[in-house]
Amino acid sequence: MLHVCAQNCSINGVPAYLVPVLPASSNASASSMDVHVSMVDAYASLVDVALVLTKALLTTLFFLTVISMWAVEAQELRKSFGDVQALRGVSFSVSSAEVFGLLGPNGAGKTTTVRILTCVLKPDSGSARVLGYDVVEQPERVKKQIGVVPEEANAYPDLSAWRNLVYFAQLYGLSKREAERRAVALLKEFGLYERRDSLIRAFSKGMRQRLMLCMALISDPILLFLDEPTSGLDVQSARMIRQKILEAREDGKTVLLTMHNMFEAEQLCEKIAIINKGKIVEVDTLQGLREKVGDYRVVEFAFDKEPGAMPLEAEKVGEKYRVITRDPHSFLCEVVDFARDSGLRIADLTVRPPSLEEVFVKLTES
Ligand SMILES: Nc1ncnc2c1ncn2[C@@H]1O[C@H](COP(=O)(O)OP(=O)(O)O)[C@@H](O)[C@H]1O
Ligand SMILES: [Mg+2]
Repeated sequence: MLHVCAQNCSINGVPAYLVPVLPASSNASASSMDVHVSMVDAYASLVDVALVLTKALLTTLFFLTVISMWAVEAQELRKSFGDVQALRGVSFSVSSAEVFGLLGPNGAGKTTTVRILTCVLKPDSGSARVLGYDVVEQPERVKKQIGVVPEEANAYPDLSAWRNLVYFAQLYGLSKREAERRAVALLKEFGLYERRDSLIRAFSKGMRQRLMLCMALISDPILLFLDEPTSGLDVQSARMIRQKILEAREDGKTVLLTMHNMFEAEQLCEKIAIINKGKIVEVDTLQGLREKVGDYRVVEFAFDKEPGAMPLEAEKVGEKYRVITRDPHSFLCEVVDFARDSGLRIADLTVRPPSLEEVFVKLTES
Protein backbone atom coordinates (compact mmCIF):
# COMPACT_ATOMS: atom_id res chain seq x y z
CA MET A 1 0.00 0.00 0.00
CA LEU A 2 1.36 3.44 -1.00
CA HIS A 3 0.42 6.94 0.08
CA VAL A 4 0.79 9.64 -2.56
CA CYS A 5 -0.63 13.07 -3.25
CA ALA A 6 -3.55 13.35 -5.56
CA GLN A 7 -2.77 14.48 -9.10
CA ASN A 8 -4.04 18.00 -8.66
CA CYS A 9 -2.51 18.84 -5.28
CA SER A 10 0.93 20.42 -4.81
CA ILE A 11 3.63 20.68 -2.17
CA ASN A 12 5.35 24.07 -2.03
CA GLY A 13 4.25 24.66 -5.61
CA VAL A 14 5.68 21.37 -6.90
CA PRO A 15 3.05 19.18 -8.60
CA ALA A 16 2.29 16.31 -6.31
CA TYR A 17 3.02 13.65 -8.87
CA LEU A 18 6.62 14.84 -9.05
CA VAL A 19 7.08 14.29 -5.29
CA PRO A 20 8.70 10.93 -4.53
CA VAL A 21 6.30 8.16 -3.65
CA LEU A 22 6.53 7.43 0.07
CA PRO A 23 5.84 4.28 2.04
CA ALA A 24 3.01 4.77 4.58
CA SER A 25 5.27 4.23 7.54
CA SER A 26 8.15 6.52 6.57
CA ASN A 27 7.17 9.98 7.86
CA ALA A 28 4.24 12.23 8.26
CA SER A 29 4.35 14.39 5.09
CA ALA A 30 1.79 12.46 3.11
CA SER A 31 -0.52 11.80 6.00
CA SER A 32 -0.24 15.43 7.15
CA MET A 33 -1.76 16.55 3.87
CA ASP A 34 -4.52 14.21 4.50
CA VAL A 35 -4.63 12.96 0.94
CA HIS A 36 -4.95 9.33 0.28
CA VAL A 37 -5.33 7.95 -3.18
CA SER A 38 -5.40 4.52 -4.59
CA MET A 39 -2.78 2.60 -6.56
CA VAL A 40 -4.74 3.47 -9.71
CA ASP A 41 -4.18 7.23 -9.19
CA ALA A 42 -0.48 6.66 -8.52
CA TYR A 43 -0.24 4.71 -11.73
CA ALA A 44 -2.09 7.47 -13.62
CA SER A 45 0.40 10.04 -12.28
CA LEU A 46 3.36 7.98 -13.47
CA VAL A 47 1.76 7.64 -16.89
CA ASP A 48 1.43 11.46 -17.00
CA VAL A 49 5.14 11.86 -16.25
CA ALA A 50 5.98 9.31 -18.91
CA LEU A 51 3.81 11.21 -21.41
CA VAL A 52 5.52 14.52 -20.62
CA LEU A 53 8.96 12.91 -21.04
CA THR A 54 7.98 11.20 -24.29
CA LYS A 55 6.63 14.47 -25.69
CA ALA A 56 9.89 16.26 -24.79
CA LEU A 57 11.89 13.46 -26.41
CA LEU A 58 9.83 13.54 -29.60
CA THR A 59 10.10 17.34 -29.82
CA THR A 60 13.90 17.09 -29.45
CA LEU A 61 14.06 14.37 -32.10
CA PHE A 62 11.92 16.48 -34.45
CA PHE A 63 14.22 19.51 -34.12
CA LEU A 64 17.32 17.35 -34.49
CA THR A 65 15.86 15.92 -37.70
CA VAL A 66 15.04 19.37 -39.07
CA ILE A 67 18.52 20.69 -38.18
CA SER A 68 20.32 17.72 -39.70
CA MET A 69 18.13 17.64 -42.85
CA TRP A 70 19.93 18.32 -46.12
CA ALA A 71 19.19 21.83 -47.36
CA VAL A 72 19.53 20.55 -50.93
CA GLU A 73 19.53 16.99 -52.15
CA ALA A 74 19.92 16.21 -55.87
CA GLN A 75 19.73 12.62 -57.08
CA GLU A 76 20.70 11.46 -60.55
CA LEU A 77 19.43 14.60 -62.31
CA ARG A 78 19.36 14.31 -66.07
CA LYS A 79 18.41 16.98 -68.60
CA SER A 80 18.84 17.20 -72.36
CA PHE A 81 18.19 20.04 -74.78
CA GLY A 82 17.71 18.33 -78.12
CA ASP A 83 20.91 16.38 -78.72
CA VAL A 84 22.82 18.16 -75.95
CA GLN A 85 22.99 16.20 -72.71
CA ALA A 86 23.37 19.08 -70.25
CA LEU A 87 23.12 16.87 -67.12
CA ARG A 88 24.07 13.20 -67.16
CA GLY A 89 23.16 12.04 -63.63
CA VAL A 90 24.03 14.81 -61.18
CA SER A 91 23.89 13.91 -57.47
CA PHE A 92 25.05 15.88 -54.44
CA SER A 93 23.83 17.08 -51.05
CA VAL A 94 24.22 20.44 -49.33
CA SER A 95 24.09 20.67 -45.54
CA SER A 96 22.30 23.49 -43.74
CA ALA A 97 24.31 26.64 -43.04
CA GLU A 98 27.18 25.89 -45.40
CA VAL A 99 28.48 27.61 -48.51
CA PHE A 100 28.52 24.92 -51.19
CA GLY A 101 30.30 25.58 -54.47
CA LEU A 102 29.34 24.04 -57.80
CA LEU A 103 32.53 24.57 -59.75
CA GLY A 104 32.97 23.83 -63.43
CA PRO A 105 34.00 25.26 -66.81
CA ASN A 106 31.53 26.90 -69.21
CA GLY A 107 28.91 24.46 -70.45
CA ALA A 108 29.47 22.03 -67.56
CA GLY A 109 25.81 22.13 -66.46
CA LYS A 110 25.90 24.53 -63.50
CA THR A 111 23.09 26.82 -64.64
CA THR A 112 20.91 23.90 -65.70
CA THR A 113 21.35 22.38 -62.21
CA VAL A 114 20.47 25.68 -60.51
CA ARG A 115 17.44 26.18 -62.76
CA ILE A 116 16.13 22.73 -61.82
CA LEU A 117 16.74 23.29 -58.10
CA THR A 118 14.96 26.67 -58.23
CA CYS A 119 11.97 25.18 -60.08
CA VAL A 120 12.52 27.04 -63.37
CA LEU A 121 13.17 23.82 -65.32
CA LYS A 122 11.96 20.26 -64.83
CA PRO A 123 14.51 17.44 -65.00
CA ASP A 124 13.99 14.68 -67.58
CA SER A 125 14.65 12.19 -64.78
CA GLY A 126 16.08 12.08 -61.28
CA SER A 127 14.77 14.04 -58.32
CA ALA A 128 15.69 16.91 -56.06
CA ARG A 129 14.53 18.19 -52.71
CA VAL A 130 15.12 21.71 -51.45
CA LEU A 131 14.54 22.30 -47.73
CA GLY A 132 12.72 18.99 -47.72
CA TYR A 133 10.34 19.86 -50.57
CA ASP A 134 10.31 18.15 -53.94
CA VAL A 135 11.16 20.66 -56.68
CA VAL A 136 8.73 19.13 -59.17
CA GLU A 137 5.85 18.29 -56.81
CA GLN A 138 6.05 21.30 -54.46
CA PRO A 139 7.59 24.21 -56.43
CA GLU A 140 5.57 26.90 -54.62
CA ARG A 141 6.86 25.73 -51.24
CA VAL A 142 10.42 25.76 -52.51
CA LYS A 143 10.20 29.19 -54.17
CA LYS A 144 8.76 30.80 -51.06
CA GLN A 145 11.78 29.91 -48.96
CA ILE A 146 14.68 30.62 -51.30
CA GLY A 147 16.46 33.65 -52.74
CA VAL A 148 17.93 33.42 -56.24
CA VAL A 149 20.49 35.37 -58.23
CA PRO A 150 20.08 33.87 -61.72
CA GLU A 151 22.77 33.86 -64.40
CA GLU A 152 20.97 36.64 -66.29
CA ALA A 153 19.71 39.62 -64.26
CA ASN A 154 15.92 39.51 -64.14
CA ALA A 155 15.17 43.04 -62.95
CA TYR A 156 12.90 45.24 -65.06
CA PRO A 157 15.24 47.62 -66.94
CA ASP A 158 12.62 50.37 -67.24
CA LEU A 159 11.82 50.47 -63.54
CA SER A 160 13.93 52.12 -60.86
CA ALA A 161 15.94 50.06 -58.37
CA TRP A 162 13.44 51.06 -55.70
CA ARG A 163 10.35 50.01 -57.71
CA ASN A 164 11.99 46.72 -58.68
CA LEU A 165 12.84 45.88 -55.12
CA VAL A 166 9.53 46.85 -53.52
CA TYR A 167 7.57 45.10 -56.27
CA PHE A 168 9.65 41.96 -55.85
CA ALA A 169 9.19 42.03 -52.06
CA GLN A 170 5.42 42.23 -52.48
CA LEU A 171 5.52 39.17 -54.73
CA TYR A 172 6.93 37.36 -51.72
CA GLY A 173 3.93 38.52 -49.68
CA LEU A 174 5.63 41.25 -47.65
CA SER A 175 3.39 44.17 -46.64
CA LYS A 176 4.18 47.48 -48.36
CA ARG A 177 5.55 48.88 -45.11
CA GLU A 178 7.80 45.89 -44.46
CA ALA A 179 8.90 45.81 -48.11
CA GLU A 180 9.93 49.46 -47.94
CA ARG A 181 11.71 49.01 -44.63
CA ARG A 182 13.77 46.10 -45.96
CA ALA A 183 14.39 47.82 -49.30
CA VAL A 184 15.89 50.87 -47.56
CA ALA A 185 18.11 48.69 -45.37
CA LEU A 186 19.35 46.52 -48.25
CA LEU A 187 19.94 49.39 -50.70
CA LYS A 188 22.02 51.13 -48.03
CA GLU A 189 23.91 47.94 -47.21
CA PHE A 190 24.79 47.38 -50.89
CA GLY A 191 25.75 50.99 -51.59
CA LEU A 192 22.78 51.63 -53.92
CA TYR A 193 20.56 53.87 -51.79
CA GLU A 194 21.69 57.11 -53.46
CA ARG A 195 20.83 55.59 -56.86
CA ARG A 196 17.50 54.08 -55.81
CA ASP A 197 15.49 56.21 -58.25
CA SER A 198 17.68 55.47 -61.30
CA LEU A 199 16.36 53.10 -63.93
CA ILE A 200 18.10 49.71 -64.01
CA ARG A 201 18.87 50.36 -67.66
CA ALA A 202 21.36 53.00 -66.50
CA PHE A 203 23.06 50.69 -63.98
CA SER A 204 26.54 49.23 -64.53
CA LYS A 205 26.86 45.43 -64.46
CA GLY A 206 28.24 45.58 -60.92
CA MET A 207 25.34 47.74 -59.67
CA ARG A 208 22.84 45.48 -61.40
CA GLN A 209 24.33 42.42 -59.74
CA ARG A 210 24.30 44.11 -56.32
CA LEU A 211 20.60 44.86 -56.88
CA MET A 212 20.06 41.20 -57.83
CA LEU A 213 21.50 40.22 -54.47
CA CYS A 214 19.21 42.74 -52.70
CA MET A 215 16.27 41.11 -54.51
CA ALA A 216 17.43 37.65 -53.48
CA LEU A 217 17.70 38.77 -49.84
CA ILE A 218 14.50 40.85 -49.64
CA SER A 219 12.41 38.04 -48.11
CA ASP A 220 15.23 37.08 -45.70
CA PRO A 221 15.40 33.52 -47.12
CA ILE A 222 17.30 30.75 -45.35
CA LEU A 223 18.73 29.38 -48.60
CA LEU A 224 20.37 31.32 -51.44
CA PHE A 225 21.17 30.13 -54.97
CA LEU A 226 23.74 32.35 -56.65
CA ASP A 227 24.67 31.50 -60.24
CA GLU A 228 28.14 32.95 -60.97
CA PRO A 229 27.31 36.11 -59.02
CA THR A 230 30.72 37.75 -59.50
CA SER A 231 31.29 36.77 -63.13
CA GLY A 232 32.48 39.73 -65.24
CA LEU A 233 32.14 42.27 -62.41
CA ASP A 234 34.43 45.12 -61.46
CA VAL A 235 36.81 44.35 -58.60
CA GLN A 236 34.87 46.36 -55.97
CA SER A 237 31.48 44.84 -56.76
CA ALA A 238 32.95 41.32 -56.86
CA ARG A 239 34.66 41.90 -53.52
CA MET A 240 31.46 43.28 -51.95
CA ILE A 241 29.42 40.30 -53.17
CA ARG A 242 31.99 37.84 -51.78
CA GLN A 243 31.90 39.67 -48.46
CA LYS A 244 28.08 39.50 -48.38
CA ILE A 245 28.19 35.76 -49.10
CA LEU A 246 30.46 35.26 -46.09
CA GLU A 247 28.13 37.42 -43.96
CA ALA A 248 25.12 35.37 -45.09
CA ARG A 249 26.90 32.24 -43.90
CA GLU A 250 27.65 33.89 -40.55
CA ASP A 251 23.90 34.63 -40.27
CA GLY A 252 23.27 30.88 -40.60
CA LYS A 253 22.05 30.93 -44.20
CA THR A 254 22.85 28.15 -46.65
CA VAL A 255 24.39 29.27 -49.95
CA LEU A 256 24.68 27.25 -53.15
CA LEU A 257 27.06 29.11 -55.39
CA THR A 258 28.28 28.34 -58.90
CA MET A 259 31.62 29.51 -60.29
CA HIS A 260 34.24 28.61 -62.84
CA ASN A 261 37.45 29.34 -60.98
CA MET A 262 39.05 27.66 -58.03
CA PHE A 263 40.25 30.99 -56.62
CA GLU A 264 36.71 31.97 -55.65
CA ALA A 265 35.85 28.48 -54.45
CA GLU A 266 38.84 28.52 -52.10
CA GLN A 267 37.83 31.90 -50.69
CA LEU A 268 34.18 31.14 -50.08
CA CYS A 269 33.24 27.48 -49.99
CA GLU A 270 33.31 24.85 -47.28
CA LYS A 271 32.36 22.12 -49.69
CA ILE A 272 32.91 21.94 -53.42
CA ALA A 273 31.41 19.78 -56.17
CA ILE A 274 33.41 19.83 -59.39
CA ILE A 275 31.16 19.38 -62.41
CA ASN A 276 32.26 18.64 -65.97
CA LYS A 277 30.17 17.78 -69.03
CA GLY A 278 27.02 17.24 -66.97
CA LYS A 279 28.65 14.94 -64.39
CA ILE A 280 30.01 15.52 -60.91
CA VAL A 281 33.65 14.43 -60.99
CA GLU A 282 34.56 15.19 -57.37
CA VAL A 283 32.76 16.33 -54.21
CA ASP A 284 34.67 17.14 -51.07
CA THR A 285 35.37 19.72 -48.41
CA LEU A 286 38.02 22.28 -49.26
CA GLN A 287 40.33 20.50 -46.82
CA GLY A 288 39.54 17.11 -48.39
CA LEU A 289 40.32 18.48 -51.86
CA ARG A 290 43.63 19.85 -50.61
CA GLU A 291 44.49 16.41 -49.26
CA LYS A 292 43.52 14.74 -52.55
CA VAL A 293 45.72 17.20 -54.43
CA GLY A 294 48.58 15.69 -52.39
CA ASP A 295 48.23 12.53 -54.55
CA TYR A 296 49.24 14.45 -57.66
CA ARG A 297 52.59 15.78 -58.86
CA VAL A 298 53.38 18.23 -61.62
CA VAL A 299 56.29 17.09 -63.81
CA GLU A 300 57.83 19.82 -65.97
CA PHE A 301 60.66 19.10 -68.37
CA ALA A 302 62.50 20.43 -71.43
CA PHE A 303 64.96 18.96 -73.96
CA ASP A 304 68.06 20.53 -75.46
CA LYS A 305 66.25 20.75 -78.81
CA GLU A 306 62.68 20.43 -80.06
CA PRO A 307 61.64 16.80 -80.51
CA GLY A 308 60.15 16.09 -83.96
CA ALA A 309 57.06 14.48 -82.42
CA MET A 310 55.95 14.17 -78.83
CA PRO A 311 54.42 10.77 -78.07
CA LEU A 312 54.15 11.55 -74.33
CA GLU A 313 50.86 13.03 -73.12
CA ALA A 314 52.30 16.35 -72.01
CA GLU A 315 51.11 19.89 -72.53
CA LYS A 316 53.50 22.48 -73.98
CA VAL A 317 53.75 25.50 -71.67
CA GLY A 318 56.27 28.05 -72.99
CA GLU A 319 59.60 26.28 -73.53
CA LYS A 320 58.68 23.33 -71.30
CA TYR A 321 56.38 20.34 -71.33
CA ARG A 322 54.09 19.76 -68.37
CA VAL A 323 52.03 16.87 -67.06
CA ILE A 324 49.98 16.38 -63.87
CA THR A 325 50.14 12.77 -62.77
CA ARG A 326 49.51 10.50 -59.81
CA ASP A 327 52.45 8.32 -60.87
CA PRO A 328 55.47 10.59 -61.42
CA HIS A 329 57.90 7.64 -61.28
CA SER A 330 56.45 5.88 -64.34
CA PHE A 331 56.15 9.15 -66.22
CA LEU A 332 59.78 10.09 -65.53
CA CYS A 333 60.87 6.67 -66.83
CA GLU A 334 58.92 7.36 -70.05
CA VAL A 335 60.59 10.77 -70.43
CA VAL A 336 64.05 9.26 -70.00
CA ASP A 337 63.29 6.41 -72.46
CA PHE A 338 61.93 8.87 -75.01
CA ALA A 339 64.99 11.16 -74.67
CA ARG A 340 67.36 8.20 -75.08
CA ASP A 341 65.51 6.75 -78.07
CA SER A 342 65.31 10.15 -79.81
CA GLY A 343 68.87 11.27 -79.15
CA LEU A 344 67.69 14.17 -76.98
CA ARG A 345 69.22 15.45 -73.74
CA ILE A 346 67.01 16.44 -70.82
CA ALA A 347 67.85 20.11 -70.24
CA ASP A 348 65.41 20.82 -67.42
CA LEU A 349 63.32 18.70 -65.05
CA THR A 350 61.15 19.69 -62.08
CA VAL A 351 58.73 17.65 -59.96
CA ARG A 352 56.49 19.73 -57.65
CA PRO A 353 53.10 19.58 -55.87
CA PRO A 354 50.25 21.12 -57.92
CA SER A 355 47.93 23.94 -56.90
CA LEU A 356 44.20 23.25 -56.40
CA GLU A 357 43.54 25.17 -59.61
CA GLU A 358 45.87 22.88 -61.60
CA VAL A 359 44.10 19.78 -60.31
CA PHE A 360 40.71 21.33 -61.06
CA VAL A 361 41.83 21.96 -64.66
CA LYS A 362 43.14 18.39 -64.86
CA LEU A 363 39.81 16.97 -63.61
CA THR A 364 37.77 19.03 -66.04
CA GLU A 365 39.92 19.02 -69.20
CA SER A 366 38.97 15.57 -70.49
N1 LIG B 1 17.92 26.29 -73.08
C1 LIG B 1 18.90 25.60 -73.66
N2 LIG B 1 18.79 25.16 -74.93
C2 LIG B 1 19.76 24.44 -75.50
N3 LIG B 1 20.92 24.09 -74.90
C3 LIG B 1 21.09 24.51 -73.64
C4 LIG B 1 20.11 25.27 -72.95
N4 LIG B 1 20.56 25.53 -71.69
C5 LIG B 1 21.76 24.96 -71.62
N5 LIG B 1 22.09 24.35 -72.77
C6 LIG B 1 23.32 23.57 -73.03
O1 LIG B 1 23.52 22.69 -71.93
C7 LIG B 1 24.89 22.64 -71.58
C8 LIG B 1 25.06 23.08 -70.12
O2 LIG B 1 24.75 24.47 -70.05
P1 LIG B 1 24.76 25.28 -68.69
O3 LIG B 1 23.99 24.52 -67.68
O4 LIG B 1 24.30 26.65 -69.01
O5 LIG B 1 26.31 25.26 -68.31
P2 LIG B 1 27.15 26.21 -67.35
O6 LIG B 1 26.20 27.04 -66.56
O7 LIG B 1 27.97 25.29 -66.53
O8 LIG B 1 28.00 27.07 -68.25
C9 LIG B 1 25.62 23.52 -72.57
O9 LIG B 1 26.11 22.71 -73.60
C10 LIG B 1 24.55 24.47 -73.07
O10 LIG B 1 24.83 24.91 -74.36
MG1 LIG C 1 26.04 29.09 -66.38
